[in-house]
Amino acid sequence: MNSIIVSMVTAVGLMTSGHVLAVDMPAEGKAKCGTCHTIDNSSVAPSFMEISEKYKGDKDAVNKIATSITTGGSFGWEYGEMPAKGLGANDAEIQSLSKFIAGLAK
Ligand code: HEC
Repeated sequence: MNSIIVSMVTAVGLMTSGHVLAVDMPAEGKAKCGTCHTIDNSSVAPSFMEISEKYKGDKDAVNKIATSITTGGSFGWEYGEMPAKGLGANDAEIQSLSKFIAGLAK
């Protein structure tokens, strides 16, 4: 009976970044970024795919993306301002989301 609740808690509590499909937003991304970002559609913020294209070929992409997420603000996209850490992402989530974003444009 409680399996739905259990799986939700598991999704929030574990970093299961190894099994993310390239087209699926990770759970923490849905929760903490998804109000503004999608993977492939820009509305109020650049899509994660566009951001990935921006950093494509940059060896330091993951670190640069993580820094942007951590500090927030504007990065020249002209959508406005991003809140620091989105909707409360922690450092581990920021790391795994940065890797996810950097890996999209291949
Ligand atoms: C309240 C809306 C909002 C939320 C929530 C949000 N962002 Fe953003 N984000 C933005 C906007 C707006 C921009 C573009 C700013 C600009 O115009 O330069 C942006 C830009 C970015 C960029 C581009 C950085 C660069 O260097 O170009 C990254 C990466 C990013 N967001 C990741 C995230 C992640 C990951 C999360 C969740 C942890 C998140 N954002 C949550 C609004 C949001």
